[in-house]
Amino acid sequence: MNLNERIPNNVNLSEDKKLQRALEKWLPNYLDWWQQMGPDGFQQKDVYLRTAISVEPDGWANFDFVKMPEYRWGIFLKPAAPDAKIGFGDNLGQPAYQEVPGEFRNALRRIIVTQGDTEPASVEQQRELGKTCPSLYDLRNLFQVNVEEGRHLWAMVYLLQKYFGRDGRDEADALLERRSGNPDKPRILEAFNQPCDDWLNFFCFTMFTDRDGKYQLSALAESGFEPLARTCQFMLTEEAHHMFVGDTGLNRVVKRTAQLMKQGDVRELGGIPLDIIQKHINFWFSYSLDLFGGEISSNSADFFAAGLKGRYKEQDQYEDHVLVDQNFTMKVVADGKLSDREVPLRNALNEVLRGEYVRDCEKGLARWNKTLAEEGLSERLFLPNSRFHRHVGEYAGHYFDIEGNLIAAEQFEQRKADWLPTMEDREYVRSLMHPVVEPGKIANWIAPPATGIKGKPFEFEYVRL
Ligand SMILES: [Fe+2]
Ligand SMILES: [Fe+2]
Repeated sequence: MNLNERIPNNVNLSEDKKLQRALEKWLPNYLDWWQQMGPDGFQQKDVYLRTAISVEPDGWANFDFVKMPEYRWGIFLKPAAPDAKIGFGDNLGQPAYQEVPGEFRNALRRIIVTQGDTEPASVEQQRELGKTCPSLYDLRNLFQVNVEEGRHLWAMVYLLQKYFGRDGRDEADALLERRSGNPDKPRILEAFNQPCDDWLNFFCFTMFTDRDGKYQLSALAESGFEPLARTCQFMLTEEAHHMFVGDTGLNRVVKRTAQLMKQGDVRELGGIPLDIIQKHINFWFSYSLDLFGGEISSNSADFFAAGLKGRYKEQDQYEDHVLVDQNFTMKVVADGKLSDREVPLRNALNEVLRGEYVRDCEKGLARWNKTLAEEGLSERLFLPNSRFHRHVGEYAGHYFDIEGNLIAAEQFEQRKADWLPTMEDREYVRSLMHPVVEPGKIANWIAPPATGIKGKPFEFEYVRL
């Protein structure tokens, strides 16, 4: 572990001069990008942040006040297991790849670039949020997520620069050139081009879209390309906090809304009505489902066969890691109606991963509904059907109601305002977003957290403004 270098790392950077030169050349461009596209207006403030300093499960992080541009973005991989083997696919049991196999070079580069692109994209999407934070605690959490997404970008750039030569260096540069929502040079995946300009969107994003990240990283953490697997395994330790921010953030919004519902009209009382929360869930859940890719996918079959991308907890929860003669049944649209179709399981692995994700999201909904019940309300929140409002895969180009029934385009248009946030809903939410920056104070539309960060109370001055 070398923490004293310009780039803290556990990959022996000082002994790999070529990589060190590439990364040190990339570093100033990264810092320029951070200044341009990172949190606007807070770069010189001291923030109580967690920094990864080790890969040991206990004590991997250090908490202290840091100015964000001085954050120690490092490169940390989970230590190599001796004799690692490819855990699934056609080469099951062969030694894991320590270098990029020539025949999978393009596929692997594409996987890494697509994952890498999401990391800076989310920082860009969240750039203006600090100005309307509901509390210092939330402001700190936003910045924690932002600096760690920055570190995730470093993790992917390390792989590109170390293992993909010239192309990898070009891809690393391009990761700093695309911009979220910019029509001329957009980010690769659509959910990462959607604006995330108020805190309800932010909590939905960290709940639903970061959670897609968890499942993608988990599938790649199984990879037979060992450097990728070890990189993703460590990223997952940070990712847990991002989803915590979203899950508990929404729970706190739901709690406050429930309290206000008992007092009178939520709008008049300055809260976020439950139907607007539901519409935001519908919006971000459906966009996040698209991130898993098509239901029937030859890529998913190729990646699995090659041992590049496995299933969620491939080693822990499955016996059969080859999947040659198995099938998977799913609903598809044929002749204007929904019908069952059987496809080879290897071609359905995006859908298998998506199913794991949906079950995980349902647990979040159960927690929020428990909050509603505890407040004595009978209203409940729910997840829309997975076919609703999709732009990628089998259901794209068709229209479904919130329960997943196939409907006509005109019917969808008529009911759209009941299901998805309208301009008016978005403007209303935005009208509530005023900064609250006094230690211990909280905005009216959200409940305070149950506990603070790292044993500190909620009243702690997490950001020194
Ligand atoms: Fe990330
Ligand atoms: Fe994340």
